[in-house]
Amino acid sequence: MSSIKPSAHLAEVRYEIRGALTRRARDMEAAGQPIIKLNIGNPGRYGFATPPHLREAIGAHLTDSEAYGHEQGLEEAREAIVAQQKARGSVGIDVERVFIGNGVSELIDISLRALLQPGDEVLLPSPDYPLWSAATILNDGSPRYYRCLAENGHLPDPDEIEALIGSRTRALVLINPNNPTGAVYPKALLERIVEVARRHGLLLLCDEIYDEILYDDTPFQPLAAIAGDHPCVSFGGLSKVHRACGYRVGWMSLSGDPRRTAEYRDALQLLAALRLCANVTAQWAVRPALLDKPTIGALTSPGGRLHEARQTVLDHVAASPFLDVVAPGGAIYAFPQIRPDAIAHFDDTAFALRLLEEESVLVVPGTSFNLSASRHLRLTLLPEPAQLAEVFVRMDRVLTRMANEAAPAASAVA
Ligand SMILES: Cc1ncc(COP(=O)(O)O)c(C=O)c1O
Repeated sequence: MSSIKPSAHLAEVRYEIRGALTRRARDMEAAGQPIIKLNIGNPGRYGFATPPHLREAIGAHLTDSEAYGHEQGLEEAREAIVAQQKARGSVGIDVERVFIGNGVSELIDISLRALLQPGDEVLLPSPDYPLWSAATILNDGSPRYYRCLAENGHLPDPDEIEALIGSRTRALVLINPNNPTGAVYPKALLERIVEVARRHGLLLLCDEIYDEILYDDTPFQPLAAIAGDHPCVSFGGLSKVHRACGYRVGWMSLSGDPRRTAEYRDALQLLAALRLCANVTAQWAVRPALLDKPTIGALTSPGGRLHEARQTVLDHVAASPFLDVVAPGGAIYAFPQIRPDAIAHFDDTAFALRLLEEESVLVVPGTSFNLSASRHLRLTLLPEPAQLAEVFVRMDRVLTRMANEAAPAASAVA
């Protein structure tokens, strides 16, 4: 009997954050081995709670949530998003140009599906959040990667971006604050990148899902405000800043001169309508999330749990003979690397497997983020600081063993 073959597209698509290593960790747990998991940015799994007023808003509207809603989302939720975007300086925004989805994840797919013809190219960061690459490929596009190297603070180089642009390039994706690196892009850099997009007529797609998760007074600059009348799609959501991943609510707003994006807007609306609407129930949380008092600062300022977790990572990396890190300015990750002078030949995936098998710690290797030849690992800042400290003890044990295995017998003895 012939087997059922999946789409050939999928051969190029990966999502290692929930991939083979995670499956191995699940098997180990099922066999009774406790695992410290630092692989996924899911605040609810680490004891963070959604602010109660968001829960209450949903509860108060349960009976209003039983019918399909507007394909672009609840009007009152979209009005709150418009107010947020206008306050940030976005141009040309109104409720017709805002789309609410089942998480930013769904909207990433819709935004690219509405744009791409077979063979079109999309400029993506390397490392990236891998859904951006996957959605590009699944919608018949080709990723072209610009590098965000540790030696450059994980910031992109606008000249390198411009050099990658060809006749088929349609869009430029930015992730700011960045997953996996935690980099937050300065205004002057964003201005140069917007100039590149303007010169080449590229649609800007800016994933700002971590927009309010910032450390040490690092300023966040919304891209749409700089883009002005240039077409720009900005993405935000409830998952991270509001610790509500399971609600599955995200949004995108299309800014810039409405005449230039009228057809694209209509395409987005058609795709939104084809899936009827996003989960109505959780959309009631958008207005209080955006218009009531912010709650994330208590976690990111000194004494707050995310602040202390980040400090724990920075202190332990500084004390380790093996590790380096660019201090994350925002988001909920750190992206340390193993120093070449400490271990010359390093395979991040082999290391992550050893860390899991030998020390019961699950991290994501840098190559999972469309980075070639990586010496990096991604850790989430979500565990309790004491647990993160324990992770570094275990990592250093594996790295010491690796260094001794690689070294000649004399240094192994020492
Ligand atoms: C950069 C980035 N974009 C989008 C998403 C998906 O978010 P959502 O839960 O809204 O689908 C994530 C989730 O980790 C992310 O890190």
